[in-house]
Amino acid sequence: MKNQDLLKAATQAQALSHSPYSKARVGAALRLKDGSIITGCNIENASYGGTVCAERVALWKAVSEKGSSLQVQEILVVTDASPPWPPCGFCRQVMAEFCSADMVVHMAGPSGIHKSMSLADLLPESFSPANMKK
Ligand code: THU
Repeated sequence: MKNQDLLKAATQAQALSHSPYSKARVGAALRLKDGSIITGCNIENASYGGTVCAERVALWKAVSEKGSSLQVQEILVVTDASPPWPPCGFCRQVMAEFCSADMVVHMAGPSGIHKSMSLADLLPESFSPANMKK
């Protein structure tokens, strides 16, 4: 099945989720255009506002390893929820900082991808780095 490698990587990251408060285990895997896959999981904090979602952990890891001009082809997020969760608003905004409008987000459950949408469809009329250049 297409994107099986991405689902496997995200599921492995999901197993490392630190989520003792919500008990919601989330994993993310992003594929860069250079072919590499970078993963993340949600990491919660006893001071709840310190929590970071799986998608942002993966994106920030990617930026810290590849630099901010990295090219993200697609991101897969996996949860045990049904239907699988879409990325939260904060994560969509961070995606708008580092990903192009046609970048695809896959929402997956344990059995596979449930839905795939472009960043443009997930975050229309986004405030992005382009606005800061004007
Ligand atoms: N969470 C994610 O990791 N990604 C999402 O897209 C939605 C929410 C995490 C944050 C928190 O640890 C838990 O899920 C419940 O909100």
